[in-house]
Amino acid sequence: MNILVTGCAGFIAYHLIFTLLEQNHTIYGFDNFISGQKENIERLNILYPNNFVFKEFDLIDFEKLNKFIYDIKIDQIYHLACPASPPIYQIDPLHTLDTCYIGTRNILEIARIKNSKILLASTSEIYGDPTVHPQPENYWGNVNSFGLRSCYDEGKRVSETLSFIYLKKGIDVKIVRIFNTYGPKMSLNDGRVLTNFITQALRGENLTIYGDGSQTRSLCFCTDLIKGLLKLMDSNINMPINLGSQFEIRIIEIAEIVKSIINPDIKLTFKPLPSDDPKQRRPDITNAKKYLDWEPQVGIQEGISLMIKEFKERVKL
Ligand SMILES: NC(=O)c1ccc[n+]([C@@H]2O[C@H](COP(=O)([O-])OP(=O)(O)OC[C@H]3O[C@@H](n4cnc5c(N)ncnc54)[C@H](O)[C@@H]3O)[C@@H](O)[C@H]2O)c1
Repeated sequence: MNILVTGCAGFIAYHLIFTLLEQNHTIYGFDNFISGQKENIERLNILYPNNFVFKEFDLIDFEKLNKFIYDIKIDQIYHLACPASPPIYQIDPLHTLDTCYIGTRNILEIARIKNSKILLASTSEIYGDPTVHPQPENYWGNVNSFGLRSCYDEGKRVSETLSFIYLKKGIDVKIVRIFNTYGPKMSLNDGRVLTNFITQALRGENLTIYGDGSQTRSLCFCTDLIKGLLKLMDSNINMPINLGSQFEIRIIEIAEIVKSIINPDIKLTFKPLPSDDPKQRRPDITNAKKYLDWEPQVGIQEGISLMIKEFKERVKL
């Protein structure tokens, strides 16, 4: 099949594209490198010179997007373009909103023109700071529209609304609400919790904990997530589906795991909690289990060890 991947230089896209190329599909991808990594593209180009076609441009530019795949049949689209890390999506909040609205509208229009199936990468952030725990898909969320994270949280909510509108127009749209995902090939400076802990520990620095570290996260290993994305794309499900780990862990416990693997003598430094930082997140994955027969398999200790192994090759000491 011919498959288009938006945001193809990103972390999740890297693992997804590798899997799809291994299955002999041809991948068309583009990226503006706002948070993507050029090394990922170089590696894919070297390993799969005949089946991976890349162009650098912004999803907001409909003309370039349309020209890129003008005379190509596109069977499926994985729409992943959007910076996912808070420090990065807050650098240019208007562009983040444009990516979520104009960009998503552009790619849905391409799906309509090409009659392609499309999967939108939405996020657990659409639940905001949830008052229901764990979060099922029919929980409408508790989101701040007037804060630093709003450009992403509200942007993704609008992306879902656009997807709903195109679904009603007859486009086969899938929506995945991704909860925190981690693993090898995350960008070293994306500011996400595990990336920070591992790079700090490898450099022998103190690990920075925001707040008292009692806030929780549920971390899903990247290969588990990719299996879920593929299953959702192949399914006949058009309602939003949560994908993520049900194993909830405190930030301070994540720091302890990283320390225990890299260096138990490393100390912790505590800093104030950023505004809108969610206190608790855990997906209800009843629907993913029921409709996709999916649940994560990789344990947190094993996943963090694999991530550390790969980070050791990249972190400069
Ligand atoms: N990783 C997670 O834990 C997580 C959680 C929830 C949702 N998601 C969603 O999954 C998708 C991928 O996340 P990721 O962790 O791989 O993030 P990432 O930042 O590594 O990848 C996003 C990619 O999109 C590209 N991009 C951003 N805006 C673009 C634009 N306007 N035009 C072209 N390219 C653009 C970036 O350069 C980057 O390569 C995102 O949509 C994100 O919101 C991820």
